[in-house]
Amino acid sequence: MIVVAIDGTAASGKGTLARQIAKHYNFSHLDTGKIYRAVAYKVIVNNVDITNIDTIEKLALSLHSDDFTGDSLINNDVGNMASQVSKIPKVRQVLRQYQQDFPKQAQQLGFKGVVVDGRDIGSVIFPNATIKFFVDADIEIRAKRRYDELLERGDVVNYETILSDLKTRDEEDKNRLESPLIKCKDSHLIDTSHNNPQKTLSQAISEVDELI
Ligand code: DC
Repeated sequence: MIVVAIDGTAASGKGTLARQIAKHYNFSHLDTGKIYRAVAYKVIVNNVDITNIDTIEKLALSLHSDDFTGDSLINNDVGNMASQVSKIPKVRQVLRQYQQDFPKQAQQLGFKGVVVDGRDIGSVIFPNATIKFFVDADIEIRAKRRYDELLERGDVVNYETILSDLKTRDEEDKNRLESPLIKCKDSHLIDTSHNNPQKTLSQAISEVDELI
């Protein structure tokens, strides 16, 4: 089973890259940010306090794959809460198993490979992945992309708020004790600042083709 692990900063383009690689090779794709967002969404709608670890763990245990879809997960507040929720070791532990089971499930469905994107995929979830990518871009460019994406959805957004939220999330994702966002030594860095999605895909494909 081929495992393509993609990590990177928020709004760096890693999700788009993951979807495109999956489409190109007909691999199954798991966006692990959606799983953390699904827990965060449940925390918000059930009005659970972020210090109530036991209840949040139960929410994580009760997740179903249907929870990982839906427009409500793309919301900026859900993203900020996901960053908070993802600091809780018990939550990461529950979600780790789900993620590590994904290639087996994909294999049973006939897929030859998976693409998994997130923050700790190459470092913790699949340290032996076939290939690892780390995707990043200048923070102003990422903020503009996220701003445009939310605007297009019809959300009321402010560029400065998005920029400052991204800075906070980068800090929190990189500095948390449990599975922080790091670039693994064996991962290929892709800076998407001046790329369109097609160029980013071509860079990645040329690396993947060498290995499979
Ligand atoms: O990629 P995203 O913006 O959808 O992720 C939302 C948050 O979830 C992110 O700020 C950190 C957390 N996350 C994580 O800790 N580990 C992952 N593998 C994926 C996401």
